[in-house]
Amino acid sequence: MENLEALAFAMGAFFSFMLWRVLYSCWVLPIRAYRKLAINGFSGPPPSFPLGNTNEMKKKKKISKKVDESCSAVSNDIHSSAFPYFAQWQKSYGKVFMYWLGTEPFLYISDPEFLKKISSGVMGKSWGKPTVFKNDRKPMFGGGLVMAEGDDWVRHRHVITPAFSPANLKAMSSMMVETTTSMLDRWTKLINSGNPEIEVEGEIISTAGEIIAKTSFGMNFENGRTVFKKLRAMQVALFKSNRYVGVPFSKYLCFGQNLEAKRLGKDIDALLLKIIEDKKRSMAENRGGGGKEHQNLLGVLLEGKHVDGDEKGEKLSTRELVDECKTFFFGGHETTALAITWSLLMLAVHPMWQSELREEIKQVIGDGNIDATMLVGLKKMGWVMSEVLRLYPTAPNVQRQVRGDIHVDKDSVIPDGTNMWIDVVSMHHDRDFWGEDVNEFKPERFKEDSLYGGCQHKMGYLPFGFGGRMCVGRNLSTMEYKIVMSLILTRFSFSLSPNYTHLPSIMLSLRPMQGLPLIMKPL
Ligand code: HEM
Repeated sequence: MENLEALAFAMGAFFSFMLWRVLYSCWVLPIRAYRKLAINGFSGPPPSFPLGNTNEMKKKKKISKKVDESCSAVSNDIHSSAFPYFAQWQKSYGKVFMYWLGTEPFLYISDPEFLKKISSGVMGKSWGKPTVFKNDRKPMFGGGLVMAEGDDWVRHRHVITPAFSPANLKAMSSMMVETTTSMLDRWTKLINSGNPEIEVEGEIISTAGEIIAKTSFGMNFENGRTVFKKLRAMQVALFKSNRYVGVPFSKYLCFGQNLEAKRLGKDIDALLLKIIEDKKRSMAENRGGGGKEHQNLLGVLLEGKHVDGDEKGEKLSTRELVDECKTFFFGGHETTALAITWSLLMLAVHPMWQSELREEIKQVIGDGNIDATMLVGLKKMGWVMSEVLRLYPTAPNVQRQVRGDIHVDKDSVIPDGTNMWIDVVSMHHDRDFWGEDVNEFKPERFKEDSLYGGCQHKMGYLPFGFGGRMCVGRNLSTMEYKIVMSLILTRFSFSLSPNYTHLPSIMLSLRPMQGLPLIMKPL
C-alpha cells in the first residue's frame, strides 16, 4: 500500500513538473520576451495563444493566391504576393514590428537603417540562427554552415572558404559547360520534334542539381539524381505542407510529414557518407600510386587534411562534412537555378536585353569555347543578374537570433534570444530607396554602381546576405549563371508562353509557383 502511495506521489510530482515545464516554455518565456520587446517600443499584430499570428498569415496567403491567379500579366511588384501578411502589417505597424510564429516572437525588419544600426557592432560569429528553424530544417541543413553558430561557425567558415578559391572554381567550369550543353541538346531535340514550348524552371533546377553534384562531390549521374530527388521530396515535405512552425507540439500535428522528412534526411546522409568514404579511399589510393586525383569541393576539403585531420581547431568531422555536403547541395543549386529562371523570364519580356547580351557574348567569347577567365568581361550580363536578384531575390529573407542584448539607440534594446526576420523582398522593392521606377526591370542601374545599383542605402540591397555571414558560394553561382546564360543565349531566342501564370511564391526560395514555360526558337 505504501509503495502504491509512493508511486502515485512520484507520478503526480513528475506530471506536475512536466506541466510546469510546458507552461514555462510555452507561456511564461514567450510572455516575458513579448514584454521586453513591448517595453522597448516594438508593437505588432496581436497574437493569440498558442498559434500566434500563424492563422492570419495562412489566410492572407490564400486570399493573395486567389487574386494573383486571376492575373497573368508580369508585374515585378511582387512583395504583396510573396509576403501578403507582411505587406498588410507594414501598413499598420511600419517597417519594424513584432509578430508571432506560434509562441515564438519575431522582430520583422524591412528598414535598412535599422538593420545597419543593430548589425554594425555584431560579428558574424556572434549572430545566432533561430532555434525554431534549426530544429525544423535539421534534416535539410543539419549543423552545416548555414545553421552553425559561434566558434563552430568560425571553424566551418575557415575550412570551407578556400574551397571556393578562383583556381578551384575555374576547374569546375568545363563540367558546367558539358552538363548545360547536354540539357540544350535535349531542348533542340524537343523543338525539332515539334515541341517548342519548354518548361525551363524544372529543366534548369535539375541541371543545376547535376552541376553541383558533379562539381562538389564528383558524383555520378545516378547518385546525383537520387540525392536530388530525395532533397526535393524533403523540401516538399518540409515547406509545402500546412505546418505550424513555432506552435508547441506542432511536430505531432504533422507527424507524417516530419517523419517523412527525417527518413529522407537519413537516406541522404547514408548516401553522402558512402560518397565521402569512397572519395577518401580513392584519394589515398591515388596518392599511393602517385596519380593526380580530379578535384572537386569535397576533394579540396579532404585534401587539406581538414576532415578528421591533424590541424588543431581547423577540422571538420565526417558527420559535419555530411552536413556541409547537404548544405552545398541544397543551398548551391536552387538559388542559382532560380536566378537563371527569373532572368529568362525578364529576358523573354524584354527581348531587347536578349540582343544586348548576345552581342556582348559575341564580343567577349566569340564562337570559341567558354573559358572561365573570359566571364568577368560579361559586364552587362552581370548587371542583368544583379537586377534580377533585386526584383526576384531567390533567397527572399534572412533570419537571425540575437545572442546577447543589442542596444539600438540610447533607450532601446533588442533582448538576448530575439528572433529576427529580415524581409529582403520588401527592401529591394522600397520606393524610398530605389525611386519611382523601383518595379521596372532596368539592369543599367548597375552600370555606374555595380555593387548597390544606385540604392540610397548600402543595406538596402542584400541578395547574398550581409556582414560576415554573406554567402560563401556567390562567386560559384556567378560563374555558373554566366556560363548557363551564355550557352542558352547563343543557341536560342525565346518568348513567354501564353500558358505562363505569374505567381512568385516562397518555398524557402522565391520561385515561379507554376514553373516557367517558354517558347524556344533555335538560332
Ligand atoms: C544566386 C545564388 C545564391 C544566392 C541568392 C544565395 C543567397 C545566400 C544568402 C542570402 C545567404 C545568407 C544567409 C544568412 O545570412 O542567413 C547565403 C549564405 C550561404 N550560401 Fe548562398 N546563395 C547563392 C548561391 C550559393 C551557392 C552556389 C552555394 C554553395 C555551393 C551557397 C552556399 C551558401 C552557404 C554555405 C551559406 C552560409 C554562409 C554562412 O552562414 O557563413 N550559396 N546565401
